[in-house]
Amino acid sequence: MEEIDKERLPHHIAIIMDGNGRWAKKKSLNRISGHIKGVNAVREVVEACRELGIKVLTLYAFSIENWRRPADEVNALMGLLKEYLQKECAEMVRNNIRLNAIGRIEDLPRDVQTTLQETMEKTKRCDGMILNLALSYGGRSEILHAVQGILSDLQKGTIKWEEMTVQRFHEYLWTHGIPDPDLLIRTSGELRISNFLLWQIAYAELYVTDTLWPDFDREELLKAIVDYQSRERRFGLTSEQLNGREE
Ligand code: IPE
Ligand code: IPE
Ligand code: MG
Repeated sequence: MEEIDKERLPHHIAIIMDGNGRWAKKKSLNRISGHIKGVNAVREVVEACRELGIKVLTLYAFSIENWRRPADEVNALMGLLKEYLQKECAEMVRNNIRLNAIGRIEDLPRDVQTTLQETMEKTKRCDGMILNLALSYGGRSEILHAVQGILSDLQKGTIKWEEMTVQRFHEYLWTHGIPDPDLLIRTSGELRISNFLLWQIAYAELYVTDTLWPDFDREELLKAIVDYQSRERRFGLTSEQLNGREE
């Protein structure tokens, strides 16, 4: 495989971790077994990103729409999330990883919220990488929440409408303080966004692999980064402008 250019790493990688159910089905296992195996993939990818020097990793772990899945699957996912946080907290501190969460955190079961808060508190001084978990997350809800925040500040008079810019809007999103993703990976082949980071992915490079999430590993991550590094990110400019050859 081609070598990775350490000077041109994506600053922020976001991943839609899809395909746990299909992985289980292929092996004649129940869907929950797929989610259990998926947690191992999370561990490996977090470790690989930290080692590479990726600054932000956002993982789409549970969408607002996922609440409508069968109750036993939702309960199992919540249990796995809590267990993951409890087991990994010390490792995160050791590896200097700060945990952050985006989404309607108030929707999560009380005990999961408590564990989440504890993990964020214990890792709050870590500055090697941000592990950003999207939990009960929806891109449309995030934008709506931002608009509500802006309206409230307008009413209070703490901001003026004329001063609103794209940058200031970002400060009202759940991802405030976090730069937009450079690379968005989706596993399991689906060519859709599924309500993930709608505002933030405006100029993200998209990478879709047929690999199912439980099979996604360090190798697969490196493949995605090599592919990312082969792209020319033009942000609306011409290739000549970017390469300093414009008239
Ligand atoms: C991703 O795998 C995990 C979550 C959405 C929580 P899925 O459970 O969506 O797996 P598929 O898409 O059914 O294969
Ligand atoms: C997206 O996967 C959400 C997560 C990975 C958490 P889904 O499996 O829920 O997405 P759809 O239903 O295929 O669009
Ligand atoms: Mg799915």
